[in-house]
Amino acid sequence: MSLFASYEPGAPRRLLDPALVVRTRLAEPGDAPALGRLRAEREGTSVADSRRIVAAQITNPDGLLLLAELSGGEGDETVGFGRVVRFEPPAGAGSNMASAGWYLGGVLVDPRFRRHGIGRRLTEERLAWVARRARRAYYVASVLNRASIDLHAALGFVELVKDIVQPGVTFTGGHGSLFGCELDEPGA
Ligand SMILES: CC(C)(COP(=O)(O)OP(=O)(O)OC[C@H]1O[C@@H](n2cnc3c(N)ncnc32)[C@H](O)[C@@H]1OP(=O)(O)O)[C@@H](O)C(=O)NCCC(=O)NCCS
Repeated sequence: MSLFASYEPGAPRRLLDPALVVRTRLAEPGDAPALGRLRAEREGTSVADSRRIVAAQITNPDGLLLLAELSGGEGDETVGFGRVVRFEPPAGAGSNMASAGWYLGGVLVDPRFRRHGIGRRLTEERLAWVARRARRAYYVASVLNRASIDLHAALGFVELVKDIVQPGVTFTGGHGSLFGCELDEPGA
């Protein structure tokens, strides 16, 4: 699996087998093996390492990990996930350091189930979660990840800072941007 989806703007949305239903829910510790497999396939890392990383993300009290699963086939199948995490910049950080706030991150959909609206749904639902806590959401992305940038732009994200720096984050191609989305108060 390559890191980014190949960029195909305007490609028709794919129709899911009508017998299948997509559901989302908060990930639980028992989901770590399935999510770790998906992550390892994308990152090209070991399944054991990915499983450990995902297990820590699931239990992180300062965020959430939302997964998408398909039911109606031969049992439920995990087909995607996305996170929200709280970020606080270190003291004395420069002007291109990411801002403090809630960050969407790590959205990943199994390549067999892309262009069915699953990435959008995981993102809309995470934005609704952030909107209950803050008036703005952020994410960072490599400038090469055009599919992800289009997905987020359609939901209101705009580029705020080019060549952003965030501790622990390296960008494929070397350059990443910070994007932000203003959120309405729920029910407003
Ligand atoms: C980015 C990703 C999560 C999108 O998931 P998805 O379920 O295929 O996306 P959706 O079907 O919900 O698409 C929503 C919108 O995103 C954009 N989009 C998604 N995939 C695209 C692609 N390959 N090319 C161009 N635009 C794309 C489109 O605007 C699309 O709307 P449309 O279907 O009306 O044209 C998926 O491609 C993926 O897992 N990529 C690898 C991991 C990754 O790059 N994550 C983002 C890290 S910042």
